[in-house]
Amino acid sequence: MRINDPKLLAALAGLGVEVEPGASMTELTYLGIGGSTDLLRITRHETIPELLNTLDREGIPHKFLGGGSNLLVMDGELPFVVVQLAKPTPDVVIEGNVASVDAAADLGRMVTYCAKNNLGGMEGLIGVPGTVGGALRMNAGAYGTQIGSYVREVKLYRAGERKIEILRGDQISFEYRHTSFAPDDMMLAVKLELPSKPYQEILQGIRLCNEKRRASQPLGQKSAGCIFKNPQGGSAGRMIDELGLKGTSVGDARVSDRHANFFVNAGQASASDMLTLISNVRERVQQAYGITLDNEVVVWNA
Ligand code: EPU
Repeated sequence: MRINDPKLLAALAGLGVEVEPGASMTELTYLGIGGSTDLLRITRHETIPELLNTLDREGIPHKFLGGGSNLLVMDGELPFVVVQLAKPTPDVVIEGNVASVDAAADLGRMVTYCAKNNLGGMEGLIGVPGTVGGALRMNAGAYGTQIGSYVREVKLYRAGERKIEILRGDQISFEYRHTSFAPDDMMLAVKLELPSKPYQEILQGIRLCNEKRRASQPLGQKSAGCIFKNPQGGSAGRMIDELGLKGTSVGDARVSDRHANFFVNAGQASASDMLTLISNVRERVQQAYGITLDNEVVVWNA
């Protein structure tokens, strides 16, 4: 979707919104899949309500993009514009045991920065790609750590109320890969309360998680991490592996040979290839185990 009206473009500029016309989602997502649309980068949180009111008034649908690490976007010209927070500097400020972090901050860099300031707890999250906002929205976790455990408060744009609000950690429920945020809430910033730990000790934990990850996940390849959530008490990766589906492909969309719950774009995979692969694998698991796997990857289909 393209914004061509010069008046509207001027209004957006007045709100501190930078427009990148015809941005390609192949470059904005880790899967390297998806069509094109105008990308609107927000440089000032306080103008978000006005920006979204303006888009609504003009009949321009929009979707929020975080780091693009857990996202599968449809092919072709997209029927919506994409809205993303610009990254401020600094994006992490530490006071005592509290790290105030912008939602656009890179998750891994934030974990390392806190570590250097002797704040730990999040070692398991080190290799999880994406932004802090994306991690918050779905309560990203790995190796026993979930970001939700450390949240003291979240600043967010509540699309339902059309305003910016601050929620305390105990007003939000964080479960396995799920939170009580509404689907169209937009994370803006978070305060994390973290345990003090010596840097060297945190570093050891980080190294251990990195090693485990390198040994079991296809890190250098284009993927969205795990495609399916684990079913209660089970492992989607193990089930898919047991069915002998590693290496199965549709076009260039392929079940990783290293970890069966990672589906990689081995070249020029389209969204439709990837969606067909996802639905084929889901069906095989359903037939064999009677379990319907839920997507962990977020799909922008329309
Ligand atoms: N397994 C296999 N074959 C495979 C993959 C896994 O047999 O191809 C077995 C492993 O040997 C292990 C079990 O399945 O016994 C679980 O595997 P793993 O330890 O790799 O963990 P996972 O449950 O597959 C989860 C998260 C990952 C996270 C890791 C480490 C989900 C859906 N996945 O994977 O998160 O990195 O634990 O904590 O919760 C993600 O969310 O995108 C993601 C990759």
